[in-house]
Amino acid sequence: MSKLVGLVGWRGMVGSVLMDRMQAEGDFELIEPLFFSTSNAGGKAPAMAKNETTLKDATDIDALKRCDIILTAQGGDYTSEVFPKLRAAGWKGHWIDAASTLRMNDDAVIVLDPVNLPVIQNALARGGRNWIGGNCTVSCMLMGVGALYKAGLVEWMSTQTYQAASGGGAQHMRELLTQYGTLNAEVKALLDDPKSAILEIDRKVIARQRNLSGAETANFGVPLGGSLIPWIDKDLGLGKGRDEPGWGVSREEWKGMAETNKILGQGEGFNAPAVPVDGFCVRVGAMRCHSQALTFKLRKDVPVADIEALIAADNAWVKVVPNTREATVRDLTPVAVTGTMTIPVGRIRKMAMGPEYLGAFTIGDQLLWGAAEPLRRMLRILLSH
Ligand code: HSE
Repeated sequence: MSKLVGLVGWRGMVGSVLMDRMQAEGDFELIEPLFFSTSNAGGKAPAMAKNETTLKDATDIDALKRCDIILTAQGGDYTSEVFPKLRAAGWKGHWIDAASTLRMNDDAVIVLDPVNLPVIQNALARGGRNWIGGNCTVSCMLMGVGALYKAGLVEWMSTQTYQAASGGGAQHMRELLTQYGTLNAEVKALLDDPKSAILEIDRKVIARQRNLSGAETANFGVPLGGSLIPWIDKDLGLGKGRDEPGWGVSREEWKGMAETNKILGQGEGFNAPAVPVDGFCVRVGAMRCHSQALTFKLRKDVPVADIEALIAADNAWVKVVPNTREATVRDLTPVAVTGTMTIPVGRIRKMAMGPEYLGAFTIGDQLLWGAAEPLRRMLRILLSH
């Protein structure tokens, strides 16, 4: 008999991408889906429903308890509210979650099976039941350059990210586009006149950006269109002194090291030491692809051709982009990657600091490999377990 799989948060942005991918891969053919809703219990379940055609209340513990597996993209507040109650009620099923709430718990595995299938299998063998999707930036990065970690080549890594509006949510994407439109409208007449002065256009744009209202910047807090924001998520600081590592770090930056190591099964709670990962996370005006410039200190000098071969052979989705101008501007942009499962890695080159210092640039669609895909793949792993 097919496993009963509860689906929560399937209508939101990540949830919708997840449903599309599950349909494209035929996942619904293997399960009996039970659709939950936080707002429309009793309503009609979507077309993928089989025997369970009515939406169930997503806070109804008894209804949730029926499920063998629950897959949620409803968000962190929902997880915080419902998950403890469900476990306290004795539910022993598998919980697959996009939210970060449970990620660093000892009994949770961050799932990214092309990178950490052994960690997942190990946890399954020990009775693991909590499977959490990783931070989008970290998952996309490891899909690209996980091979270097697997080969034990990385002494440390520094990341500089260029993160898309979608990381904030659907409203953030709308806000970005609205700002672009507002700025364009402000100077449209001048743009239409080829003889107008560019500095006058620039003056009008900056004046409008600085005068965007609270409503026009409600989601990001400050203008993003035509600007950038070098801080993502909370200020953690970690209570450290100003001169200590970890001081002044954003939560998104902190995740880089914590999650990379946890995914790889190293660092705290494992038998291998953590690899230092640090850098700056920056919001830019891209729609849904997170990009990152990476600097590695390798444990040894490895030829670029060998590095490229290692990366290219790691999984079916990574693609090495030759470090030429032509290939880079064609294949290594958010516009090229959006909506695809491809994880391009390019700009691979040795850096001026020495032959053990390697640079690379990688991009991933943060709604696909960054969110939905590792979850549906975990579902498949559980179904074949
Ligand atoms: N925190 C990420 C971002 C998205 O804001 O871009 C979710 O992993």
